[in-house]
Amino acid sequence: MQPNSQSMPAIRLDKVELSLGSGAARVHILKGVSLNIGQGEAVGLVGPSGSGKSSLLMVLAGLEQANSGAVTVAGEELTRLDEDALARFRGRNVGIVFQAFHLIPTMTAIENVAVPLELAGRADAFERAAAELTAVGLGHRLDHYPSQLSGGEQQRVAVARALAPEPRILVADEPTGNLDETTGRQIMDLLFAAQSRRAATLVIVTHDLNLARRCDRTIHLRSGQIERESLAGAAMTAEVPA
Ligand SMILES: Nc1ncnc2c1ncn2[C@@H]1O[C@H](COP(=O)(O)OP(=O)(O)OP(=O)(O)O)[C@@H](O)[C@H]1O
Ligand SMILES: [Mg+2]
Repeated sequence: MQPNSQSMPAIRLDKVELSLGSGAARVHILKGVSLNIGQGEAVGLVGPSGSGKSSLLMVLAGLEQANSGAVTVAGEELTRLDEDALARFRGRNVGIVFQAFHLIPTMTAIENVAVPLELAGRADAFERAAAELTAVGLGHRLDHYPSQLSGGEQQRVAVARALAPEPRILVADEPTGNLDETTGRQIMDLLFAAQSRRAATLVIVTHDLNLARRCDRTIHLRSGQIERESLAGAAMTAEVPA
């Protein structure tokens, strides 16, 4: 899906610096990162291990606060929000999928999807969760615990959980990293289908170049800085803006 260049970017980072850890373990991770991602755009984030991809994703998802610079996501300036406001922001605007699924082991599939909706005050949490799980092909596994599901099924639950609040922004950190190729492709099909159906913005960290090629654009990180950007689909589509 092509970005809507008329509107304000969905994600805007301006000279973002991030350091984490304390004392000798303190690491300067992001070093002046500036980028714009349009509403509805799909962006791949690639780069060597340790280059700061996950850290950058955490910053734009509101899971980590930048030390300086500006982070504007869905019209909110995140660096001005306290912890509670950030958590509310995430609940309303951001769906997150991790490599390691991050499901709650003591909750069934439907509870994993419904409980965050309930916490956000949705009266129809369980109906919505059932519909979302059915949409990812898990209508027959609602009452299974994560340990009773395959890796691909667990990641489907995680995708359903990320999509259920209908966030405008979807972020995924190596969502296919623990899955075989076919299962990984199915997971990505689900994410791209949701992105295009809802005109959501999708940012995916990946080491998989085939996956990066499915995005509108790829941002290459190196040592905490943007090294370059490429129109990932350029080789495969004629519809590339000049
Ligand atoms: N909480 C932390 N405290 C200190 N250093 C950290 C912390 N989190 C990450 N780092 C360091 O920041 C750097 C970037 O880490 P990050 O996880 O963002 O890399 P990445 O590009 O996602 O790598 P990979 O491809 O291996 O997942 C690494 O050198 C890492 O050791
Ligand atoms: Mg990472």
